[in-house]
Amino acid sequence: MLYDYAKAKTESAAILELIAKKKLSETERQTVITESVKYWTEHVNPGFLKYRKSVSTDYTAVEWEDEGAVFRDVNGIEFIDMLGGFGIYNVGHRHPKVLSAVKNQLERQAIHSQELIDPLRPYLAHLLSLITPGDLKYSFFTNSGTESVEGCLKMAMLATGRKHFVGAIGGFHGKSLGALGGTSKAVFREPFLPLLHWSHVPFGNTEALRTLLASTDFSGDRVAAVVLEPIQGEGGINVAPPGYLVAARELCDQYGAMLIFDEIQCGMGRTGKMFYCEYDGVTPDLMALAKGFGGGIMPIGAVVGTAKTWEKYIENPFLHTTTFGGNPLACAASIATINVLLEEDLLKAAAVQGEYLLKALLALSNKYPKVMASARGVGLMLGMEFVDNDLGYDIAQKLFARRILIAGTYINARVVRVEPPLVINRKQIDTFLTALEESLQDVYKERGFGNSWAVQKNLDPAAASQP
Ligand SMILES: Cc1ncc(COP(=O)(O)O)c(C=O)c1O
Repeated sequence: MLYDYAKAKTESAAILELIAKKKLSETERQTVITESVKYWTEHVNPGFLKYRKSVSTDYTAVEWEDEGAVFRDVNGIEFIDMLGGFGIYNVGHRHPKVLSAVKNQLERQAIHSQELIDPLRPYLAHLLSLITPGDLKYSFFTNSGTESVEGCLKMAMLATGRKHFVGAIGGFHGKSLGALGGTSKAVFREPFLPLLHWSHVPFGNTEALRTLLASTDFSGDRVAAVVLEPIQGEGGINVAPPGYLVAARELCDQYGAMLIFDEIQCGMGRTGKMFYCEYDGVTPDLMALAKGFGGGIMPIGAVVGTAKTWEKYIENPFLHTTTFGGNPLACAASIATINVLLEEDLLKAAAVQGEYLLKALLALSNKYPKVMASARGVGLMLGMEFVDNDLGYDIAQKLFARRILIAGTYINARVVRVEPPLVINRKQIDTFLTALEESLQDVYKERGFGNSWAVQKNLDPAAASQP
């Protein structure tokens, strides 16, 4: 028998009881750990669990509850979150205002009828028109980042009648079949080729972009849109060099291409501005949002566009639709998120804490150059570059053992990101920095690099090994 309704009925009831519990007994905690690992292996993906094990050092870190800049596993062990869900938790874990907006909405209506006018979508679209730069004015809401990029691609096709896209090497835009074309790494794309028509240019190189746009214009293979992350997240926290975004804007205008900014990871206040492109004073034709846009509580993304990009879509609004995108719960979360970012001045917090953190990371890379090559980024979108791939992994593991969660970037294995919730406080940052220095010293010892940091700085080696 392949199915067992009776078992599904009793087991689902037991899981519901578990969800409803405020506190778990020791036996229940052990059961959650054992069953999570078992069912993940049997019914989700055993390969993924093996990969996860290498960072979490053992299987016992099953996440259970969270708040602010920390989360606790099922055994109540608390971790400082220096990963921020890859850019999800900008306003912190379960910010009370976001939580209460979602709860209030949930008690009235969860999902809209799809037929009448649901009010939160237009309210949220209006708010976005107030906080996005330039003449961005229309919004279409999605359920994820990759869907936001898909929406941008379709709008660019409609606005230009063209189908050729240009992305950047190191770019990451998601893994659905349209957005995957823009994601630049072979390992993710190759099994699925051919994708949409994409070309990739080196990130930050204006001349390469100019040459591609000029040659495709000459050959008639004209470009619908240039798609860029203003700071490449998965590519290794690569900040667009000065003047690059401005030049991209001018080149797109010259060759009739749309400019799409993927602010899914660098947007919503993370870099100290609401959107990173504001630093360069550049407005794209289309902007993709997700991740932190739902306040770390609801999944929601957005395609934000100018009047020009929406023209054909206004003629036929059924060219692009979604059932759940922009549902009332998700919109409530986003509205609260925008309010929290502004009310609590989290943009400034990101800038101030980010400056402090980057300075400290640079000092550590100076002190431990055999392990940490450099650090870079803006606001709280930072990355540490290690001398080789293994070292970064090693440090991430050692930090995890010290109750700090951190992770690498998808496309550049040498870079480990530092993207905590913007609400992180100075004490938590200092705890992270101490743990990082201890981990760097451990690696020095284990790899036989000695304690050259102490010699370099003319310190007493015995004292220097006690951070
Ligand atoms: C810049 C960027 N774009 C798109 C995506 C895809 O978002 P999602 O995983 O929600 O589909 C990501 C996810 O990491 C991202 O960082």
